[in-house]
Amino acid sequence: MKEEQENKGNKEKQEKIYVMGNWKMNKLPGDVLSFFDKLIPNLRKYINEKTKNGDIKLSTIKKLETIIAVPYIDMFYANLYANEEKRIKIAAQDVFYKNEGSYTGEISPMMLKSIDVNTSIVGHSERRAMGETGDIINKKIKALLDENMKVILCIGENAEDFKKENTKKVLKKELDEALKDISDKKEDIIVAYEPIWAIGTGESCSYDIAKDVIKYIKSEMIKKGFSDPKVVYGGSVNSENSTSYLETGVIDGFLIGTSSLNPNEFLKIYINSAKFLNK
Ligand code: PGA
Repeated sequence: MKEEQENKGNKEKQEKIYVMGNWKMNKLPGDVLSFFDKLIPNLRKYINEKTKNGDIKLSTIKKLETIIAVPYIDMFYANLYANEEKRIKIAAQDVFYKNEGSYTGEISPMMLKSIDVNTSIVGHSERRAMGETGDIINKKIKALLDENMKVILCIGENAEDFKKENTKKVLKKELDEALKDISDKKEDIIVAYEPIWAIGTGESCSYDIAKDVIKYIKSEMIKKGFSDPKVVYGGSVNSENSTSYLETGVIDGFLIGTSSLNPNEFLKIYINSAKFLNK
């Protein structure tokens, strides 16, 4: 009963659900067209029909924030669609921490902003595995905030740390490093809890564990001065499990890898989120 009340309380104050995709190194520019040519008409049809017949409130739709992190090379086409359908925003999967200079191969916050890409993922475990350190992640976050951009900061423990019950220790270290000396614009940072062992494996984190860990992350963020911390879950999210994550009452949405590649599956997760918020 207490649990039920707690979840209800959380839901009532839930202002937004973030339905975010991460395409990783997938989709050629041509594939971008077929993805959005499927997603956008179906998304519009759903919203028009459901808001017209009163099944879903327009205010609920407004609370859904849809962001897709695409490869740089796909941004041109993806942006054309995002300009046409404002409910969809395009993000980067990574960014460099300087705005210009001799940094071969890098893309800066200023460059992204110049093409209306105002959000970037930072610290994804796949980039950490390529050598990205907490210090670099911290610099990237500061560089994005300096440009008034939004940050999706990924944190998560590996299988070994999970088994040894080191999860919270690892997450605290990652948060401490990433958020070091960040004093303002905290509302522009969303944290994505992505247990490494659950990414791309089909082995999603149990709802109870995700709930416990995300509560912990939020409490650490509050200690760091976040007034209303936003934390999403990522790791084998699909249309079958997404509602159960939301029902934990503490999860503000998703960062979706594999299931974001398929426009129908991505839309189903969006619809599940709309239904959940509308209740
Ligand atoms: P997944 O990836 O949904 O395929 O597990 C999530 C991510 O890495 O962001």
